[in-house]
Order: sequence, then C-alpha cells, then structure tokens
Amino acid sequence: MNNLEIIALSDKYVMKTYARQPVAFVRGKGAYLWDADGKKYLDFLAGIAVNGLGHSHPAITEAVAAQAARLVHTSNLFYNQSQAELAELLCRHSFADKAFFCNSGAEANEAAVKLARIYQKQKKGEGSFEILTMEKSFHGRTLGMIAATGQDKVKKGFEPLPEGFRHVPYDDLPALAAAMSGKTCAVLLEPVQGEGGVRYPAEGYLRGVRELCKQHGALLIYDEVQCGMGRTGKLFAYEHSGVAPDIMSLAKSLGAGLPIGACLATDEVARAFQPGSHASTFGGNFLVCEAAKAFLRVLLEDGFLEKVRQTGAYLVERLRGLQKKHPWIREVRGEGLMVGVELEIPAKPLVDAALNEGLVINAAQEKILRLVPPLNIGNREVDEAVDLLDDVFAQAPGGAPA
Ligand SMILES: Cc1ncc(COP(=O)(O)O)c(C=O)c1O
Repeated sequence: MNNLEIIALSDKYVMKTYARQPVAFVRGKGAYLWDADGKKYLDFLAGIAVNGLGHSHPAITEAVAAQAARLVHTSNLFYNQSQAELAELLCRHSFADKAFFCNSGAEANEAAVKLARIYQKQKKGEGSFEILTMEKSFHGRTLGMIAATGQDKVKKGFEPLPEGFRHVPYDDLPALAAAMSGKTCAVLLEPVQGEGGVRYPAEGYLRGVRELCKQHGALLIYDEVQCGMGRTGKLFAYEHSGVAPDIMSLAKSLGAGLPIGACLATDEVARAFQPGSHASTFGGNFLVCEAAKAFLRVLLEDGFLEKVRQTGAYLVERLRGLQKKHPWIREVRGEGLMVGVELEIPAKPLVDAALNEGLVINAAQEKILRLVPPLNIGNREVDEAVDLLDDVFAQAPGGAPA
C-alpha cells in the first residue's frame, strides 16, 4: 500500500483520536524513517521520546527476536526471570528498591498514585489523600491521570473526574508551600515538563519540593515517563539535582519501542502494596523486559550518557546560532537530547513544513517545538537536522530569506 491507501484505510476504521500527519512510515534504520511512498526522513521525534536507540537497533532487534522465539508471556501469576533482572537493573541504578511493571506511562502513574494513597492511608490515616500536581503537567489519559494532569484541554467532556487532585504552578515553591497541608498525600511532578513545553525548573526547585514534602509528611513522586531513561544525559533526570523521590514512573523509551511502563519505589513505600492491591495482565512480560534490559545495557555502557550530553549541548548551540537569523525564536532550552525551541509564532506550520522537507519533529504547546531524537545520534545528524530547520524557518511567515 502507498501513503494514500494506508491513510484511507485508517480513516475508515481507526477512531479519530489523533490529528495525524498525512504520512505512513513503513521502515526505519537508526535515526531515519521511510514512508510507504519511499521518501526518507530524519527522525528527531523518535516516536515521542520512545525509540531511544532509533529504529532497528541490532541490540533491541536481536533481544526481541530471540525472546519471541522462546517465550513471550505467561502472566504475573508466575515468576519471570526477565522481569526480575530488569527490576534489579533499574533498582541498582536508581533510588529505588522495588519495581512494579505495567504497559504505559498512564498506568505507571496510576500505580504511583495508588501506591501513595494506600501508603498514606496506613501511615497518616483516612484524611491524607490529596495529590498535588503541576499546571501544564501531563500524566496520561486514563480518568485518574486526566484528573492529575494540569491542563484543562485533556479533561473537557469527561467529567466527573476522580477527586483528590489539585494543581499548583510549576517551579513555584511559595505556591506549593501554600497548597500543602496535613491532607497532602503526595506531590507528583515531572523533573522536566515534556508536553507542557519542555520546561526545566530553576536550580534548587526539587530540593525545595523535597523539603516541603518532609515538613508535611508527603511523598514525592517523579513522573520520568518522558524525561527519564537517558533523555537528559543522565539515566534519570532527577540525578541532575541529586534529589531522589519516594516513587517514580517510567515508560516511553524504557522498552526502546516496546510497550512497557514501570513504577519504582523505596522498600518502605512499596511494602504498602500486598498481593491483590494492584495488577496488570501484560505488565512486564518476557518480551518487553528483554527489550528494556537490552536498552539499559546500552545506556549504561561507558561513555554513552556522556555522549548524549555532548550531542545535546551541540544541538542547543547550533539551534541558538539560528536565533540571530530568525529573531522570532524566543528561547532554545535543553539538557541532553530533550530540547525545546520556544517561538513567537505558531509551531504547527513549521512542524508541517519540516515533515515536507524530510524532518520529523513535533510541537509541545502552541509555540514550542520539541526535539527528542534517538539518544545514539551524533553531530552529523544534528547538523543535518539544524540545516533542514534553517531552511524551514527561512520560509516561515516573518522568517529571514534563505
Ligand atoms: C510525562 C508523561 N507522563 C505520562 C505520559 C503518558 O504516557 P502514555 O501515553 O504511555 O500513557 C506521558 C506521555 O506523553 C508523559 O509525557
């Protein structure tokens, strides 16, 4: 099938929950994708920060193929070596002592919130159920997680929503302090906001949040679904601050393209879950755990994360170089390969024009471009992407001539 045939079939049978770009990819290698008409693209979106090693990476392909031929799924009624080994790897390289596995970011956050609620019920009693989350946050699309998300657009039409969530401004310690009380069960936040516009909080923010949680006996939950797994040049984004949470959710690139989510926690908190408290049929099956283990092994290779930091710094520097030519670029911000370009003009026409030029990116919020390429790219791919963006920007309304 060509692009148009795939689009027609999809439009006929798939629910229209996405405003999709008119392209159907059929093949990928490294940081490149090919559509059904044979056109090649440079992928600086990586399945929305999912394909951490790009496409068809031999370590992932081999791990998945071998496991698919051996055993895919048995359920969580039985022990599973792949799951145990993945949990060990994640715990050994983070603050956590225990992991729970599920299939997506929303589910990882649901597990995190349920764990916090049941822990506080046992520790502080019935009244401590409120979860404070941040304005412009994004935590997923289940009913619970749209209640948690600090953006009205995801909630509209689905009310009534689960109770017990309240939003405060991000990166604002006085506002958080004012909202906290004995009722506060936990504070849930993204160490770097992704969907909210690739926003990095000020230095010292996470330390301040941790201090407030301590004062009020509240748990600290990090949603590292987007910013975790090497994305910012550290295995977990919180490592930049040195401030560990009590609970953390992971998904997106955890499985390097396969659907797996995880909720990590300290032993003290994890003990609140007992057999029957929470479950997931598919959660952490052999196939996805082998993919995640293969991904983690590459991330943890000597020099890999250092290279992510270097390539990210080069990407930011080159994008800042474009600001002189295109003064409507308000700000370029990023750590590692989680980069946002804030504009004074709408981002969507630029995303469309970039796709046309063979560069895949997207917009996080109306005027913010998001660049989250595979973590194993080098300066060559950065140069190619920035040169393409320069051409796209030159054609933008108000853009400088090429
Ligand atoms: C920070 C964050 N949390 C949670 C989610 C939801 O993840 P999923 O779509 O896998 O449910 C996302 C998705 O964009 C996210 O960016």
